[in-house]
Amino acid sequence: MSLSTHNSRRPSPLRPTSFDPITPVNGALAYEGQVAVITGGASGIGAAAAVELAKLGMKIVIADVNVAGLKKVAKEVAQIIGENNVLAVPTDVSKLEDVVRLKDKVYETWGEVGILMNNAGIGNKGTSWGGLDEWHKVIDVNLFGIVNVQQTFVPAMIHQENPAAIINTGSKQGITNPPGNAAYNASKAAVKSLTEGLAHELRNTPHANVTAHLLIPGWVWTGLTGQTDGGEKPPGAWTAQETVLYMIDKLREGKFYIVCPDNETKKEVDQLRILWAAGDVAEGRPALSRWHKDYKALFEEYVKEGLAQLD
Ligand SMILES: NC(=O)c1ccc[n+]([C@@H]2O[C@H](COP(=O)([O-])OP(=O)(O)OC[C@H]3O[C@@H](n4cnc5c(N)ncnc54)[C@H](O)[C@@H]3O)[C@@H](O)[C@H]2O)c1
Repeated sequence: MSLSTHNSRRPSPLRPTSFDPITPVNGALAYEGQVAVITGGASGIGAAAAVELAKLGMKIVIADVNVAGLKKVAKEVAQIIGENNVLAVPTDVSKLEDVVRLKDKVYETWGEVGILMNNAGIGNKGTSWGGLDEWHKVIDVNLFGIVNVQQTFVPAMIHQENPAAIINTGSKQGITNPPGNAAYNASKAAVKSLTEGLAHELRNTPHANVTAHLLIPGWVWTGLTGQTDGGEKPPGAWTAQETVLYMIDKLREGKFYIVCPDNETKKEVDQLRILWAAGDVAEGRPALSRWHKDYKALFEEYVKEGLAQLD
């Protein structure tokens, strides 16, 4: 087990590179026959990504702490792409040794990674002065899970011949910071920050053929939002499959920020909310003024006017 020590670009073990690109625009990936590694692949958005990328002909590696879920999704993916093209690797992304084992397994089996989707996440609740144990859990998985994977995989990925893409799953909660779960919001704000940094560092690394992308799901009906408790998908939520198909479209366009709408919040409303949140800082309003009694009405007017200007 070791972190990568490669120091030059290596010929692709997955040559020939006569794959059909799904991203013809800027080479930001994915090619039929290449490998997608998806953390949190046993459920929700990660499981849907495994299925949809398998449909595009990719070899699939799913990594998750949920072993029963991994088996179920691996079976489904094997029916699409064949069982020789699926690896299910029990992995706790918050543990560096698990992530190193995952990387070694992937590189021993296929020698490179085309899509790395850092998607494992939990929504444990921590408030500003409560839930210290939950804070540690959320930061360990949502933030250090990604840090561990980046530190382990990227040193090898930057020396691959074939292009590769890293997709980190953030959240609108990491951008507009709605009150309710300070720990989750802080973890996802950190994911935005580290993914922006990753994009910058990758594009300034000579010969690196890797792009970074921040997936910002809307409201998606998954384990995290109550699906496992049973019941119907709320009309306002998107399915995990809808989210992944949207993500693949935006990857094809070479987008860094992949802000997904849902059936409740359209793109323009997200844009106005994001601009308002930035305006708190730029204009010196109180923190989270969108939810402040003196500004709530102003915010609502701002959105109404913004939407009216678009009509
Ligand atoms: N569902 C939404 O509305 C929504 C919105 C914004 C962002 N997200 C993000 O999307 C990502 C996927 O979540 P989802 O909605 O599909 O929920 P989900 O609960 O269905 O899937 C999350 C998966 O991560 C796995 N996981 C948790 N801890 C892990 C660990 N330590 N190591 C490895 N795997 C681990 C879980 O077992 C699960 O399979 C998360 O990062 C979440 O924060 C979801």
